[in-house]
Amino acid sequence: MVLKCGVIFTCVVVLLLQAPESVTAKICILRERNFTSEIWDFWTGYYCYNYTPDFRLNFRYTNITGYILNGSQIPVALIPDEEIQYFSFHYKDPTSLQYLRKSFQTDHFFGLWINCCEEASDCCENSMTDENVYPTEEYPCPAIWDGWTCFDPAKAGTIQKETCSKQAYSTESDVCELQSEKTCFANGTWNQTTDYGVCAIAPVLRHRHTFNVIALAIATVISFPAVVIFFSLRTFRKNLRYIMHRNLILIIVIRNLLTIMSKQIIILDALNSTGTTVMDENSVACRVLAFFENAAKNGMFACMLADGFYLHKLIVRAFANEPSLTYIYVAVSVLSFLPSLIWAIVRNDHGAKDCWMVDDTNDQWIIDGFRIAILVINFLLLLDIIRVMVMKLKRGSVSQQVKSTFRATLFLIPLFGIHIVIITNRNIVPSNTCEAQDIYYYISYLVEGLQGIMVALLFCYINSEVRGELENAFRKFVLYLEQRFDLKFEKKEDLRRATTATYVEAYNRK
Ligand SMILES: *[C@@H]1O[C@H](CO)[C@@H](O)[C@H](O)[C@H]1NC(C)=O
Ligand SMILES: *[C@@H]1O[C@H](CO)[C@@H](O)[C@H](O)[C@H]1NC(C)=O
Ligand SMILES: *[C@@H]1O[C@H](CO)[C@@H](O)[C@H](O)[C@H]1NC(C)=O
Ligand SMILES: *[C@@H]1O[C@H](CO)[C@@H](O)[C@H](O)[C@H]1NC(C)=O
Ligand SMILES: *[C@@H]1O[C@H](CO)[C@@H](O)[C@H](O)[C@H]1NC(C)=O
Repeated sequence: MVLKCGVIFTCVVVLLLQAPESVTAKICILRERNFTSEIWDFWTGYYCYNYTPDFRLNFRYTNITGYILNGSQIPVALIPDEEIQYFSFHYKDPTSLQYLRKSFQTDHFFGLWINCCEEASDCCENSMTDENVYPTEEYPCPAIWDGWTCFDPAKAGTIQKETCSKQAYSTESDVCELQSEKTCFANGTWNQTTDYGVCAIAPVLRHRHTFNVIALAIATVISFPAVVIFFSLRTFRKNLRYIMHRNLILIIVIRNLLTIMSKQIIILDALNSTGTTVMDENSVACRVLAFFENAAKNGMFACMLADGFYLHKLIVRAFANEPSLTYIYVAVSVLSFLPSLIWAIVRNDHGAKDCWMVDDTNDQWIIDGFRIAILVINFLLLLDIIRVMVMKLKRGSVSQQVKSTFRATLFLIPLFGIHIVIITNRNIVPSNTCEAQDIYYYISYLVEGLQGIMVALLFCYINSEVRGELENAFRKFVLYLEQRFDLKFEKKEDLRRATTATYVEAYNRK
């Protein structure tokens, strides 16, 4: 966004040049001109209005002319057909407010204009002192109000940054704060055009979600072979502990894929395209995707619980019966789908829009509460396991396998716990700047991606039993290959020998 002067404004400036200036009054700088504080609010109010983006207005008062107030020129808007002929742009003048409100589309946008006027007033009163409105040796670029933002004095050849004005955002509200940039040239003059292009929120969000997609894609690529390994070897298909591990990794992979899909198809699409987006269309298909993504996330926690439950059975209730697999599958399905179903019904009630992707009604708590509950249960199981484990370890009556599963679980439950603590506490971000939020989101997405990788790593890739089985399988496979290869090779050799023999024989016969 770049500030532009209308044709009418230019003629007002010309008029202003002829206006007498009070010498003793406080001076404040608005772009390339300076004004006494008496008429400051009239001018800045006009600038704030003039630079208000078109999409915030119903119509724009364009018939602007100059009016002499106490010997100084101020801009006023002319209204030919009404009893009032003109009004000023002072944000404290009730008549002006009444006319200007009609021009704005919403109270919110009107409020932003008033906000701009107040900031301008504050800038003149508090940021522009008699010292810093004049260029100095060190700070050749004086304090300045550029129409939207108050900039402090700057050294030559530097870039001065200030929080982006709310006037600069194209969205209804700002998600996080960015910094607009104004250059003080090497020759000691301001670039009159402040760079507000950096105030766009969309690229910030696009980077975050793209990072999320990449992290999940990497995690998926890394953890998928573990699923294949667990499925392909008979030993693992028979062992309940490995079935649990496999299902956990599998559900994480499915969840990663669903999240990647919804981010790509719905969220990144909404950030990239300008026309009607998938999110605007809000089709049934995209809500179904949101539902299954949600259920898959629950499934992760449910499978985690099943895993913890089984470890608890192995260690604490060593002589209890093996739980039935069917029973576990039913329990996991209920724990995955029931909360999502409740969530979907409530969301539907609250006006199903934006593909259920934007949580503007705080329904997310239904799901988060459930996940936290599962984690707490898991944590309690873990504590009980630790208690018994300590006793058993003293007696040395624990198998290597159970020990390694225990160690893995000991690590994984807190990892899942940390992640949910992070994502349910968005307000832990100390400041409202986009950088601070970025750090929060990047860490959160990193931990999210790490979950799948760590589960695959701990339960599969570095597990000694799995590696033993894999080495076995590999040896068998090599043997098998060798046998086949040898067989072929021998046959070929025999054949060649036979040919040679025939050849030699034929030769000898000559
Ligand atoms: C204000 O403008 C006048 C002439 O336009 C100039 O002489 C004066 O130095 C300016 N004051 C400031 C503080 O820039
Ligand atoms: C105009 O001048 C009069 C008297 O000098 C003063 O009372 C009044 O506040 C001034 N108006 C503005 C808008 O500065
Ligand atoms: C602006 O106002 C003047 C005086 O009322 C009128 O003559 C002129 O036609 C108006 N111009 C526009 C563009 O409305
Ligand atoms: C200062 O430098 C900028 C760009 O380098 C140029 O646009 C501007 O006209 C210069 N101003 C003066 C007063 O020399
Ligand atoms: C002044 O800033 C604007 C916005 O960043 C930029 O487009 C323009 O090139 C700059 N002017 C000069 C002379 O550098």
